[in-house]
Amino acid sequence: MTIRLGVNIDHVATLRQQRGEDYPSVVEAAVHSLQNGADQITIHLREDRRHIQDTDVEAVHLVTKRYGKPLNLEMGSHPEIVEIAIASNPEWICLVPEKRQEKTTEGGLDLLDDSTFIRIEEACQKLKANIKDVKISLFLEANPKILEKAFMLNADAVEVHTGEYAKKFLNGEDITPYLQKFAAAKEMIVANKWGCHAGHGLTLESVEPLLEKNLFVEYNIGHWIIAQAVFDGLGTVVKKFRDKFDQFNS
Ligand code: PXP
Repeated sequence: MTIRLGVNIDHVATLRQQRGEDYPSVVEAAVHSLQNGADQITIHLREDRRHIQDTDVEAVHLVTKRYGKPLNLEMGSHPEIVEIAIASNPEWICLVPEKRQEKTTEGGLDLLDDSTFIRIEEACQKLKANIKDVKISLFLEANPKILEKAFMLNADAVEVHTGEYAKKFLNGEDITPYLQKFAAAKEMIVANKWGCHAGHGLTLESVEPLLEKNLFVEYNIGHWIIAQAVFDGLGTVVKKFRDKFDQFNS
C-alpha cells in the first residue's frame, strides 16, 4: 500500500498575498509538488481569503486533473464556502473548524457540541448530494468520544490533528502518549472502514515515528514544506518526503 502525501500549498499564496503581486504562483507550486511525488494537492479556502483565493481553487484543480491526482479542498462549513466547493467539484473535502482570529486551524471539529455536529452533518449532506463521488474527511482530535460521534456522519475519513504532537516532538518532549492515542484512534477508524489520515504541524523528522508505527495512510503537510523550500527548492523538499514515505510502503 502506498502512503499518500498531500502537499498543502496555502503558504505559497500567503507569500503572494503579502505583496498583492501575482507571484509566487500556486499553479507552479502544484506542478512542482506533483512532479516530485505528491499524491494530492491540498488547499484551504478560508472565509477571510487570507491566502488561497476563489480563482486559485479552479486553477489548481485544473493542474491536479492534468496529473490525474485528487484536489483536497480544506474548508469550514460556512454556506458561501460550501457553495464554492460545490461549483469546484473537488475529489476530496476536509472539513475543519475555522475562526477568523486564529493563525492556523487550532484543533479538530468539536462534534460533542450539538450545534457544531448539526452544522457539519448538514454540510456533509449538502456536499455529498451535490458533488458526484466526493469524499469527505473530518479534521478531528484523536478522542474516542469525538470519533464515535463522527461515525454517525456521512463521511469517508478522519484526518487526525497532529499539531500538538508535532509541537511536543519539536520541543524534544515525550511523544509516547500521542503515539498511543493515535494507535487507538486508528483502530476505531479502520474498524469503521474509514480512511485514517493525519495533518498539521508535521516536519520531515516528526512524521517519521508516525510512519514507523504505520499509523496513517495519508499525510497533509504544508507549512514546513514551504518554509524549507526557501532553502532547498520545493521540488527537492517534496522529493525528500516522497523518498521517506516510500521507505515505509508495503
Ligand atoms: N490539515 C489540516 C486540516 C490543516 O488545517 C492544515 C493547515 O492548513 C494542514 C493539514 C497542514 O498543516 P501544516 O501547514 O501545519 O503542515
